Amino acid sequence: MPTITVSEAHRHIGQRVTLKGWLYNRRSSGKILFLQIRDGSGVIQAVLGASDNPDLFAKADQFSRETSLVVHGVVKEDARASIGCELLLEDADVIHQPSVDFPIELKEQTPGFLMDHRHLWMRTGRQVPVLRVRDAAFYAFRQFFHERGFVATEAPILTGTSVEGTTTLFELDYFGDSAYLSQSGQLYLEATAMALGRVYWIGPAFRAEKSKTRKHVTEFWIAEAEMAFYDHAMNLDLQEDLVRYIVTHVIEERGPELKELGQDVEQLQREVAEPFARLDYGDAVTLLQELGHDVSFGDDFGAPQEASLGDHFGKPVFIERFPVEMKPFYMKRDPADPTRVMAADLIAPEGYGEIIGGSQRVDTEEELVSQLTEAGLPTEPYQWYIDLRRFGSVPHSGFGMGLARVIAWITGVSHIREVIPFPRQINRLYP
Ligand code: 4AD
Ligand code: MG
Repeated sequence: MPTITVSEAHRHIGQRVTLKGWLYNRRSSGKILFLQIRDGSGVIQAVLGASDNPDLFAKADQFSRETSLVVHGVVKEDARASIGCELLLEDADVIHQPSVDFPIELKEQTPGFLMDHRHLWMRTGRQVPVLRVRDAAFYAFRQFFHERGFVATEAPILTGTSVEGTTTLFELDYFGDSAYLSQSGQLYLEATAMALGRVYWIGPAFRAEKSKTRKHVTEFWIAEAEMAFYDHAMNLDLQEDLVRYIVTHVIEERGPELKELGQDVEQLQREVAEPFARLDYGDAVTLLQELGHDVSFGDDFGAPQEASLGDHFGKPVFIERFPVEMKPFYMKRDPADPTRVMAADLIAPEGYGEIIGGSQRVDTEEELVSQLTEAGLPTEPYQWYIDLRRFGSVPHSGFGMGLARVIAWITGVSHIREVIPFPRQINRLYP
């Protein structure tokens, strides 16, 4: 008897199989018992009639939710089931039967309660398909760069400097000195790109940001790339290709999960089908004013402005060439207008906000030192980073993507904490 997963069941119609999993839910008419069995790959309904096997019926009728089980039976085609089949139950061995009721009920519960039980909540409902989509998005990110000959690398998490400003640093004691949790691997990737040409990584990033929005967590996995000999325009083209690739591949690989989540896959496909919109920052301010927003040149866009831009274009939008004052020290200024940087943020449709921040990097020692000084940063801890501009400096560019926001957009989940296995927020370190 082959041991199979729920996702493989439809290929075993008419066969006697073994499945290992947990009891997700149970329902009985008194004469027929329906066991929903989940194994991480899907949920299958196992069916047993009281008259078929009275002993097994009596035993299985006692199983409580989340009992771990090994079940045996015959796979039967069933067009009504979302997986196309069910299991005619012939035997069931209990591995562990909980002695108390599983706390997550299959009805609405408050977000706070669910978050406090994240370790159990993740087994239920939308959580499983969402985490499977997350896996596919991570895989697509890596595959995109691997196919293009980029080299996967790493950046340290313990760092001595800031990348994205000093106000959001987690500081810790490092043998009597200060160290910081990395906000982004960018500076290290710039060094690695000068060794390897084109590089990428996905790793943890930390922001001691007091934002309580649905798009902010204090720890997230940042997906970054850095390319020697890439200018600003090449950087944007690559980002656009990447986002289209991830969305397309996730739809291909996790179509059933997206359907289960009730996502409008065709709308997603439409959103990435055409070239993304590209808008100068100044033009974006003007457009937002026309759309009725109270914004002025020099303002950061908040959630309502980002949502409005997304609605206006119905697809991702690059906002380019921000005023120097709005952005960090490492961005290259536009030679045609040194009050602007050659940077862009990519705004997702449907109000999911900024999914990518990227820029061409400052590439001369003189400009870098003066931009560090203007930003009020000491040059000494950045000496290694300045060195990159002293030994064969080249034009180079890169970007960082908040994959959680991309996954929220693809899955339609409203708060990014739900697409992260164990999210960290200002007021949450448990579980
Ligand atoms: O725009 P950010 O701050 O850019 C950087 O960190 C650059 N050093 C990246 C680079 O050029 N290599 O962050 C990049 C992306 C944002 O666009 C956003 O999607 C996400 O990271 N992000 C967050 N996601 C969740 N929670 C937070 N607190 C986030 N802060 C940024
Ligand atoms: Mg940004």
